[in-house]
Amino acid sequence: MLSKGGNLISVRELSRPDFDAVFKRASSFEAPGHTRTLQGKVVASLFYEPSTRTRLSSETAAQRLGARVIGFSGTEGTSVQKGETLSDTIRMVDAYADAIVLRHPLEGSARRAAEVATHPVVNGGDGANQHPTQTLLDLYTIQKHFGKIDGLTVAIVGDLKYGRTVHSLLQALNHYDVRIKLISHPLLRMPTQFVRASKNPVEERAELVVDDCDVIYCTRIQKERFADAQEYEKVRGAYLLSAQTLEGAKPNALVMHPLPRVDEIATDVDVLPQAGYFAQAANGVPVRMAVLDILVNG
Ligand code: NCD
Repeated sequence: MLSKGGNLISVRELSRPDFDAVFKRASSFEAPGHTRTLQGKVVASLFYEPSTRTRLSSETAAQRLGARVIGFSGTEGTSVQKGETLSDTIRMVDAYADAIVLRHPLEGSARRAAEVATHPVVNGGDGANQHPTQTLLDLYTIQKHFGKIDGLTVAIVGDLKYGRTVHSLLQALNHYDVRIKLISHPLLRMPTQFVRASKNPVEERAELVVDDCDVIYCTRIQKERFADAQEYEKVRGAYLLSAQTLEGAKPNALVMHPLPRVDEIATDVDVLPQAGYFAQAANGVPVRMAVLDILVNG
């Protein structure tokens, strides 16, 4: 449950009322009005791994709420380079800040940080494990576009093995009544335990056929998580969604991507009415405002 003084580490800890509460609060933050509910607070933004959207939208969210932001983007110039442990860094930052947003390459790092910190910790991505704020903004985007999530057919395409955004998304969709199509190269299939844990009907396929889908959620091959560079070469560029692929798609379909895209969505899709990924990225700000506000203020 999301509550004052709590953390956001995994979507597994969220309930349907949590999703509804975040969407409601995010929507209120999109309307003009007084939003400086974190005035006088400090939010720490600790990014041990590369990020553009998660970091900048989290920092924008904190600043729009009136907080000041401290932190780092990459560990160069920090004591991490001297060998400081995550726990020690978090202990210190927890003494300076009222909330911590953390991205780290190791699975479980956000949970470890939350065990050490007395202030709320928001997981901005821990290795291939979880990316809960991304899932909240993904679902908010779907809800805004269709006015609902229940009843939709959702295709999830690309690197389903290493992609933390799709691991979180599949788990979160258990709170909704949807049909799921998992489209991937055989080497990059969704881990079986996640497929088995799905409460929704799941179909796995290798062909990029999306004509029957409402949501087409594409993902980047997570090159940095491959132990073997040759394996990456086998799967790169496996799926390119183009205007041609979308010729038979539903006119009201929504193409999503957590971004950055590399070679998954051709730029000729950008001008189509189905292209939703830039609006999706923009939704990161009100959604992360909602998360910070709920965790700090209740
Ligand atoms: C994603 C991530 O970091 O997991 N990006 C993001 O947060 N929007 C997806 C990716 O890097 O491919």
